[in-house]
Amino acid sequence: MCHFKTILLLVFSLTLSVSAISQGNNYVQNYKKFEGLALTPPMGWNSWNKFACNVDEKMIREIADAMVATGMKDAGYTYINIDDCWHGDRDSLGFIHEDPKRFPSGMKALADYIHAKGLKFGIYSDAGSQTCGGRPGSRGYEFQDAKTYASWDVDYVKYDWCNTEGLKAEGAYKTFTAAIRQAGRPMVLSICEWGTDKPWTWGQSVGHLWRTTGDIFNCFDCVEDHGTWKSWGVMKIADKQEGLRQYAGPGHWNDPDMLEVGNGMVVNEDRAHFSIWTMLAAPLIAGNDLRKMSKETVQVLTNKEVIAVNQDKLGIQGFRHSSKDGIETWLKPLSNGNWAICFLNRSEQPQTVEFKWKDNPITDDLSKMELNTNKVTYKVRNLWTKKDVGTTKKDFKTVIPKHDVTMLLLTK
Ligand code: GLA
Repeated sequence: MCHFKTILLLVFSLTLSVSAISQGNNYVQNYKKFEGLALTPPMGWNSWNKFACNVDEKMIREIADAMVATGMKDAGYTYINIDDCWHGDRDSLGFIHEDPKRFPSGMKALADYIHAKGLKFGIYSDAGSQTCGGRPGSRGYEFQDAKTYASWDVDYVKYDWCNTEGLKAEGAYKTFTAAIRQAGRPMVLSICEWGTDKPWTWGQSVGHLWRTTGDIFNCFDCVEDHGTWKSWGVMKIADKQEGLRQYAGPGHWNDPDMLEVGNGMVVNEDRAHFSIWTMLAAPLIAGNDLRKMSKETVQVLTNKEVIAVNQDKLGIQGFRHSSKDGIETWLKPLSNGNWAICFLNRSEQPQTVEFKWKDNPITDDLSKMELNTNKVTYKVRNLWTKKDVGTTKKDFKTVIPKHDVTMLLLTK
């Protein structure tokens, strides 16, 4: 009898170990990001720039409503992203929950509301022990959190970098890539590591966009000193993009941070900010209160012809071609051999810009694309006045107000 029991036990444990082996090696992590997402720079809205920690489900629903009603959705904006401070506590098993006071209906219900409008839903976490706003971070809970987000039908995760003592960025972000993979739901991964560890050199296989700088500040050309850290005006951020364009392309973008359009700069500055972000093939994530926009703000954010430059399917990041006396000339190669050109007046007074096409043949070293009006005549369209303004047979001349742009589309 005793002998029989031993045999039974042996057979049982053998079956167990055989079935374990046949299940394969479950503890290998798969660091492959979901491909096929963000093939053009992501467009949407995020709560941080305007609302900081003051987020709740009522406001987010109203923003989703406004996204549709104002024509933003129609112009291409898709993601409604809640930034920091949505969090409640972890439960005894470690699962994260939303703040029950701010989100009484729960995140899944909010996601359903957003999806029913044909929009997508994004959320925020942090690779460290706590978020920048002091809420629970994902460190040690990565797989659990990704699983929770998947169960809420999240489409986009912005993953921040506060309180990451001892962590190395590439590895920490890869853990989250593996967590998303394991959760099984394609989610855009927005790497928010502020450019500290050169995410452009490793981010392409890990996520879909990566912040290149510290936080944006709502001013044209200032630096805001917070003591232990600084935030940057839009021109300062634009300057920091130098040398990064080779790293961007479909599915992997340099992210110069979310838009400040509609948050208080004058309309010329908003227009310049928006234009440069489109030239940079930057993600266009609005950061203002979509429920209370002036006509000018709507016009800037929903200019479809300017957005088309940003969303061009080749996904080639534009570049600063020249800079003289406060006037910069930016160029972006587009599909079908077309180009966008943007004259930016950074100076403190209006300036006359004259551009002699024939004297300025341009070859882009990166894309090898050529803009040579001695060989090809282009039609010229002013994308902000929405007027055709002739061809490159004639030199271009215009007056640009201070802190403003003239943005042209050149078509073959
Ligand atoms: C960091 C990020 C910001 C924002 C805040 C939230 O500063 O860079 O974009 O997410 O944290 O606390």
